[in-house]
Amino acid sequence: MPPQADRVLPDRLLFYCRPGFEADMASEITAQAEALGWIGRAEGQAQSGFVQFVALEDRPINEFHRDLLLARLIFARQSLVALPPLTMSRDDRLAPIVEQVVAAGWSFEAVWHETPDTNEGKALAGLIKALTRPLESALRKRGGLRRKAGGRRLHLFWTDGDCVQLGMSFPGNRSELPGGIRRLRFPKGAPSRSTLKLEEAWHEFIPRDEWEIRLAEGMQAADLGAAPGGWTWQLVERGMHVFAIDNGPIDKMLLATGMVEHLREDGFVWEPPQRLDWLVCDIVDKPARVTAMMLRWLERRWCREAVFNLKLPMKRRWQEVTRCLLMLQEGLDQAGVTVELRCRHLYHDREEVTVHVRLLD
Ligand SMILES: C[S@@+](CC[C@H](N)C(=O)[O-])C[C@H]1O[C@@H](n2cnc3c(N)ncnc32)[C@H](O)[C@@H]1O
Repeated sequence: MPPQADRVLPDRLLFYCRPGFEADMASEITAQAEALGWIGRAEGQAQSGFVQFVALEDRPINEFHRDLLLARLIFARQSLVALPPLTMSRDDRLAPIVEQVVAAGWSFEAVWHETPDTNEGKALAGLIKALTRPLESALRKRGGLRRKAGGRRLHLFWTDGDCVQLGMSFPGNRSELPGGIRRLRFPKGAPSRSTLKLEEAWHEFIPRDEWEIRLAEGMQAADLGAAPGGWTWQLVERGMHVFAIDNGPIDKMLLATGMVEHLREDGFVWEPPQRLDWLVCDIVDKPARVTAMMLRWLERRWCREAVFNLKLPMKRRWQEVTRCLLMLQEGLDQAGVTVELRCRHLYHDREEVTVHVRLLD
């Protein structure tokens, strides 16, 4: 541990997000900081794919990080405690990194190199590959990289060939995926790429060891705005019977499974013949309209769990989502319905977010 005077203290949090969503990420963090009593400024250049919250007070920033659960944030793919960015000479990139680690007194069990989710970021892959081994060996020698260090991981976030930012993540409050991105293979036979949005939602919201119970064979589901059938395909893959509601055509192979009843009806007014296990909805419409329809289903307990998308073509996306989530939560509170409610901007989402609701009583 360096003497107190030479220590570099983390003074900021670093969040990865989808390029183009920096303003939403910054609004979200600003609101969270206010709610948790932190003064600071959120900064994120448009299309950069990341946002920093720089604290303007003298408390350990780790406390803010600990109180801010990644699973509860909407736009963050990853959340790290971070040091100020390092700009270095291209002749020696290792020494400044190692010195900053030593000055921070950081120790960790793994080192991950990451970049923003941009073309410029991808172009840094070769450099990162060349640095990985020598850097790990240098960090091991100086005691930063250890066999046991509380599961902590060092993230080296490269924004350019001569610019890197060091961040730390902690087990239980981080994404375990590089870049916070869940890459999924497009399943053979699925009728649309949208299918990956529902698959990712399940990975995100339902623990793997609960899939057999909560996504079980023989369950009944409805898919509103189902055509051509990407989401229905996922439900059928799990052995569910699906009411597929859409005026548009549903994939023929999917209909041939005998598991799908295609109804050419309006998803906003259709009512299920009995209580269902799942409701999913990917209709492109105003977020408030979709939310009101979901509220109607959930108040009446027409389904046990729901996944739906809120499409966000507007500028102030965070404000719009927050308004809808509040409307939903307040409506459910008034109806005396207790739920688990989460909302995330998934990797396979574009101008939309995915909401998951589960009835708890
Ligand atoms: C984004 S697509 C759904 C894609 C689908 N999730 C998939 O994976 O293939 C939206 C669908 O919503 C349907 N839609 C729009 N308004 C609707 C309504 N009021 N009721 C039912 N379907 C509607 C459209 O016809 C369109 O097929």
